[in-house]
Amino acid sequence: MWEIRQEARGDALHIDELSERSFGPGRFVKTVYRLREGVNAEQHLGFVAIEEGVLRGSVRFWPICVGTEASLMLGPLAVQPDQRGRGIGIALMNRGIEEARARGHRAIIVDGAIGALEGSVHRARLDDPVCADGAPLGMAG
Ligand SMILES: CC(C)(COP(=O)(O)OP(=O)(O)OC[C@H]1O[C@@H](n2cnc3c(N)ncnc32)[C@H](O)[C@@H]1OP(=O)(O)O)[C@@H](O)C(=O)NCCC(=O)NCCS
Repeated sequence: MWEIRQEARGDALHIDELSERSFGPGRFVKTVYRLREGVNAEQHLGFVAIEEGVLRGSVRFWPICVGTEASLMLGPLAVQPDQRGRGIGIALMNRGIEEARARGHRAIIVDGAIGALEGSVHRARLDDPVCADGAPLGMAG
């Protein structure tokens, strides 16, 4: 049986592989990636499903702003193709939402449905400045 735990440093490579498998190389042109560019995922809201030491699925949340309101964007959420339909996806999502609520986040958006929020959606902050092509922005001189 799989268990859900918080994402740890060593999980990143496996999560990247899972994203590549689940969303393909075309994922980087999606609008949601513009909102994530140069911004780190919420540190305490990354979760993975592990079974017998193997990563079965993962979820992350990104900070965004809707108008002046700080909000969260759910995703990417992905489960290994041969493990889908076992309840892992919903369990990851629920765990993340539960933790977000416990940490005082008031809104999470998934592809739209914004409800009480109004205004354009934009990046919450800039953690690691990057050029338009995604390369790091080095200091001159
Ligand atoms: C979407 C995804 C994460 C679901 O993971 P999963 O472990 O198979 O999901 P679960 O077994 O927990 O299923 C939860 C429910 O969601 C439903 N569901 C699963 N994939 C779905 C999809 N693509 N569209 C609509 N409903 C879906 C299931 O039927 C199930 O409903 P039920 O309980 O009424 O039968 C998985 O299919 C996946 O990795 N897909 C590719 C990546 C992706 O599209 N991610 C979502 C956008 S970020």
